[in-house]
Amino acid sequence: MTIQEMIDPADYRSLSELVYDRIGIALGPSRQSMVSSRIAKRLRATQTTTVRAYLDLVKADKQGEELMHLLDAITTNTTSFFREPAAFAALDEDVRARLSSGQRQFRIWSAAASTGMEAYTIAMLLAENGATARDCAILATDISTRALAACRAGTYTAEALAPVPPKMLARWFAREGDGMRIHASLRALVTANRLNLVKPPYPMRGPFDAIFCRNVMIYFDLPVRQRLVSACLALLRPGGLFLIGAAESLYGLDHPLSTVRPSVYRR
Ligand SMILES: C[S@@+](CC[C@H](N)C(=O)[O-])C[C@H]1O[C@@H](n2cnc3c(N)ncnc32)[C@H](O)[C@@H]1O
Repeated sequence: MTIQEMIDPADYRSLSELVYDRIGIALGPSRQSMVSSRIAKRLRATQTTTVRAYLDLVKADKQGEELMHLLDAITTNTTSFFREPAAFAALDEDVRARLSSGQRQFRIWSAAASTGMEAYTIAMLLAENGATARDCAILATDISTRALAACRAGTYTAEALAPVPPKMLARWFAREGDGMRIHASLRALVTANRLNLVKPPYPMRGPFDAIFCRNVMIYFDLPVRQRLVSACLALLRPGGLFLIGAAESLYGLDHPLSTVRPSVYRR
């Protein structure tokens, strides 16, 4: 019997409700076969034989460990250095303008940081503009502890580093083991913490000069997006940048932002 046959509609509904409640992801009936095949791996790993037993296990796990694995099974951590480069060009322009008007301290938040490539792209950009850890801080948050561990390690494969311009690669990375590790001076700019974006209020204090909230809203429905965007914007300083993914939109949301360019907004 395959897992597709095993997952009955009532169990799928329970699973969807649990996932929506804990991590805000609206699974919907169309994702049933994708979810079923991915859940099969977790059933094997936890040696549970039915979806119902697996859900009981997720609910009983007070540390949230299995919920993490479930999340990793149904979402993707896909990211890259300089992903959607126009976003970084917009940040660079903004940072330069602020530097020339005398600002020296910058706080930037990568709100669904995955393995840290977005945060370290920001770090390189700040460092190229003369920033140091004394003046600048980048907060990298994600719900996935696995992704955050990779972010803290800061070691990437040659393939992952392909989008990094050669000069920056030479300046900011050193060979380590099978990959290349980002310099300690840039790791010092980045703090990686676990944060569930769908459970505001968030514990940190603002204000941030820019918030990257990219390629995560796609998972959420309108009410969750609204909650998330409002909570993020409460931490963004007036004039600060709010950046979303190229495939995302703020359509239907109530917000005070003006458009700088596609996917880049200013409070
Ligand atoms: C596709 S990656 C995007 C990474 C990066 N922002 C980018 O654009 O390249 C989406 C990330 O969102 C994270 N995520 C999913 N649901 C989340 C939630 N409720 N709270 C925080 N992070 C979440 C996932 O763990 C994943 O690392």
